Amino acid sequence: MDKIILTGDRPTGRLHVGHYAGSIRRRVELQNSGTFAKIFIMIADAQALTDNFENPQKVRENIIEVALDYLSCGLDPAKSNLLIQSQIPELTELTFFYSNLVTVSRLQRNPTVKSEIQQRNFEASIPVGFFTYPISQAADITAFKATTVPVGEDQLPMIEQTREIVRKFNSIYGETLVEPEVLLPENEACLRLPGTDGKQKMSKSLGNCIYLADPEEEVKQKIMSMYTDPQHLRISDPGHLEGNCVFTYLDAFSKPEHFAEYLPEYQGLDELKAHYQRGGLGDVKIKKFLNQVLQEELAPIRKKRAEYEKDIPAVYEILRKGSEIAREEAARTLAEVKRAMKIDYFENEEWIRSQCEKYDRA
Ligand code: TRP
Repeated sequence: MDKIILTGDRPTGRLHVGHYAGSIRRRVELQNSGTFAKIFIMIADAQALTDNFENPQKVRENIIEVALDYLSCGLDPAKSNLLIQSQIPELTELTFFYSNLVTVSRLQRNPTVKSEIQQRNFEASIPVGFFTYPISQAADITAFKATTVPVGEDQLPMIEQTREIVRKFNSIYGETLVEPEVLLPENEACLRLPGTDGKQKMSKSLGNCIYLADPEEEVKQKIMSMYTDPQHLRISDPGHLEGNCVFTYLDAFSKPEHFAEYLPEYQGLDELKAHYQRGGLGDVKIKKFLNQVLQEELAPIRKKRAEYEKDIPAVYEILRKGSEIAREEAARTLAEVKRAMKIDYFENEEWIRSQCEKYDRA
């Protein structure tokens, strides 16, 4: 069976280094590995509208931001289809059919939906569209017969729910859909990159993000004011690594080459950590190093973004073409789904003939 990737992001803001470490960097590697027959990267605008329905302008404006971030990170339209979710109407049809296979209580138990409902103060009045977005996400994945979904950890419950829908569909209507597998980042730090304030997650509303498109100086400022270890007051004090986001970021981004280039007095990250814990290593030094590491990673991305920014219509054209190809793919799956569900009346001459026979006999 061909290996197929589908993944995506909601266009509610520019992408930050948390997205990059958690998923985008991996997607580019997977794209360039040549092991996937097809790759679909979705800008999930319809899903973004489930909790931003009063703010369509924000969603619209961020489509191009996310597309620019994708392209500047190295997603290549010649290898990966970049598409806009709302332009694939077949997805809504699939969502409608799958919703028969999901109970309200199952949706209520979805941990991601649960915590998002809390975050958004939706408790008293949950929009139905938001409540059921895991079903629409199952449509996103299955429409392309995706075998592999590279995402961050917060998306695990969505993929689990998709797998349940696939199993239920196939058991009722016959083998039609493909059960996808999730692909999480291999490194613990990338799994859940904290915000620069040391808070749980990088999030726009907390103002603790380093964006891929941030200018060099801004990245530096954000790093120099990052949360470290509040007990590490003097350089000579022993420092702690737990919750110290400079080290979490180094876990996510530093490579042996960086040490050779910028900190040759250390063998690698383990030695740097040991020195910090022992005492005698100042926060400014590790922050400067992190800045060098991150700037090295972000500089080519920033440069590529500037190139793409010069021709915005070309970027929209990439999205239009990608959506067109995606639509053909989704239409094929939808036809199979309708056949399996016995709602393919006009495409099924055999059925019509069998009905003739029935009435001939009568
Ligand atoms: N839920 C994802 C997010 O919040 C976006 C998304 C929509 C997605 N459809 C998807 C991710 C399908 C993976 C597969 O970022």
